[in-house]
Amino acid sequence: MHLYTRSAGEGLPVVLLHAFPLSSAMWLAQREGLAAVCKVITPDLRGFGGSPLGDEEPSLDVMADDVVRLLDRQEIDRAVVGGQSMGGYVTMALCRRHPDRLLGVILADTKAGADAERARADRERVATAALDGGLPALVGEMLPTMIGETSMRDRAMVVGRVRGLIQSAPPQAVAWAQRAMAGRPDSFATLRELTVPALVIVGEEDRISPPGDAEAMAEAVPDGRLTVIEQAGHLSAIERPEAFNRAVAGFTAELAGGSPPRG
Ligand code: MLT
Repeated sequence: MHLYTRSAGEGLPVVLLHAFPLSSAMWLAQREGLAAVCKVITPDLRGFGGSPLGDEEPSLDVMADDVVRLLDRQEIDRAVVGGQSMGGYVTMALCRRHPDRLLGVILADTKAGADAERARADRERVATAALDGGLPALVGEMLPTMIGETSMRDRAMVVGRVRGLIQSAPPQAVAWAQRAMAGRPDSFATLRELTVPALVIVGEEDRISPPGDAEAMAEAVPDGRLTVIEQAGHLSAIERPEAFNRAVAGFTAELAGGSPPRG
């Protein structure tokens, strides 16, 4: 699968994988704000944005392999790979399947545990509803859980932008990704075996992957560190991009052996 990809900047390759059911469009502020310190590579995961869905059965492993093919195509041996929420699940699948391709890992507003039975059933409800033309009705349900209470109240631009991104998600991709996420395994053993540094980021108002999940991941990774972003929810990269970018820039500077940029 050839993933449609937007990139910016030069230097240390940093691949950022988007949340469900968004696209690489969510990383606009990261492409703009981080291009001075690294090469930001933001693909559309299969089915979303400009990338086709393909014929494979739903699986996060398939998405992780797509990302590695992208690295191959760009002749990048090792990269920092990270993702927000679903992008974090794909990152953990990549850690499991291709640890030799990593320089570092970023796990933002995501969790290492597998779904409980109830969560799996809910994903199937959403998948079926999306395929039955019910996506418009799901937008109102998803928005207030994905966006923190501060952004819902004070950041109309964020709310409007996320609404637009959800509305443009292809129903087939929504169903495929929900079924892929429902089948994901527990990743704590993978995190415990990670041999590269990991940055865990979480919005303090995240209700889908709350700070407790982030703390558990940061503790599991032998070389983990945690950044909590105040007044942000599940989409911390969109809700408080400057704080998110500061954390990533500090991490990449650490990996490159330098000191983090000021500001
Ligand atoms: C996401 O933002 O990618 C989703 O909330 C992930 C999930 O449904 O677990």
